Amino acid sequence: MSYQNSRIAETAKILTERLSGLENKAEILRSIELKALFDELKYLPADKKAEFGQEMNELRQELIAAVKADQDKDDALPPIDVTAPFDSNVSQDQHPQLLSSEVGSKHPLMTEIETVLDIFYRMGFTAVESREIDDDFHMFGALNFPEDHPARDDYDTFMTTQTDKNGKQFIAPAHTSTMQYRVLQKYKKNLEECRPIAAVIPGRVFRNEDLDARHEHTFYQLEGIYVAKGVHAGNLIATLKTWLNSYFGKEIKIMTQPFYFPFTEPSFEFAASCAFCDQKGCNICSQTGWIELGGCGMIHPNVLREAGIDPETYTGFAWGFGIERLVMLKYNIEDIRHFESGKLDFLRQFS
Ligand code: FA5
Repeated sequence: MSYQNSRIAETAKILTERLSGLENKAEILRSIELKALFDELKYLPADKKAEFGQEMNELRQELIAAVKADQDKDDALPPIDVTAPFDSNVSQDQHPQLLSSEVGSKHPLMTEIETVLDIFYRMGFTAVESREIDDDFHMFGALNFPEDHPARDDYDTFMTTQTDKNGKQFIAPAHTSTMQYRVLQKYKKNLEECRPIAAVIPGRVFRNEDLDARHEHTFYQLEGIYVAKGVHAGNLIATLKTWLNSYFGKEIKIMTQPFYFPFTEPSFEFAASCAFCDQKGCNICSQTGWIELGGCGMIHPNVLREAGIDPETYTGFAWGFGIERLVMLKYNIEDIRHFESGKLDFLRQFS
């Protein structure tokens, strides 16, 4: 394919050449060159944006098609029948022998989630369960991500081969924000009764991620939503500070900086001071002195509108924090991968 814009044409050439040498072709969709084009788009003058954006999308589609063509080459593996050991035709002594619950102990993440929920119950929030499989509408559409918008690429996750009624693949959610639409829908009657919508949603989320001391492919988030009349960003920061001070049992230093999420406006990145180096700079905080805990912001009017709430009358805030990051900070755990490692010497320290 030929591109009019020289930056895009040049990137297309580099990426097409690189693609042939890649073992995992999907890596090309996360290349820094592609990300750089997306970043460039943000800063272009309005009259250049549409043309640049269209060509950039064409390049992305071209790469997606090449990746898919390569994947289709591989034969699908035969399915594993996970229900077989529980088949009623198999005798009882051949069923898996499960350990009694007294032998084990609660996973530290579960204990910490309970502690966090207790704090929010005391602050008047209710808890809603998240789900581990969702659809394109809840992951993107209801959250103000336009079709084919590059912001969707920031949430690279796993999908099923089965599709929903709109022909879209089901998704292992990359964030608990997939629950925002459901919570707004479920509790919007509160607003008519002059009560706020105040909910927290803990849940397991999944990302196609390069793993390191702070990044896992499977981790937990805590989403929070608050909507009422006259709610502003000051309420958001105060709520998060109250929660974190209570969770850590002391006043902690926080930092917010502007960020971009399609579903909040304004949006912020929220960080706490690094407990490992006392803000001197270390490998865990990438020498910044701060550990990013989550994203937050004022719920975008389009998200409220989509859920049937009038943004002229009501405003609200939302946040999504990584639970492992929080627990790491509290107990000085230097590597996130310990949580899912199954290492007994790690787990026993919390039992
Ligand atoms: C989100 O997931 C947004 N949904 C947060 C949000 C909710 C913003 C509501 C506004 C309103 P982000 O991709 O930055 O944002 O992830 C949020 C937090 O999840 C991160 O700050 C981090 O604490 C945690 N996190 C993200 N990726 C990983 C990972 N791979 N491993 C462990 N924790 C992670």
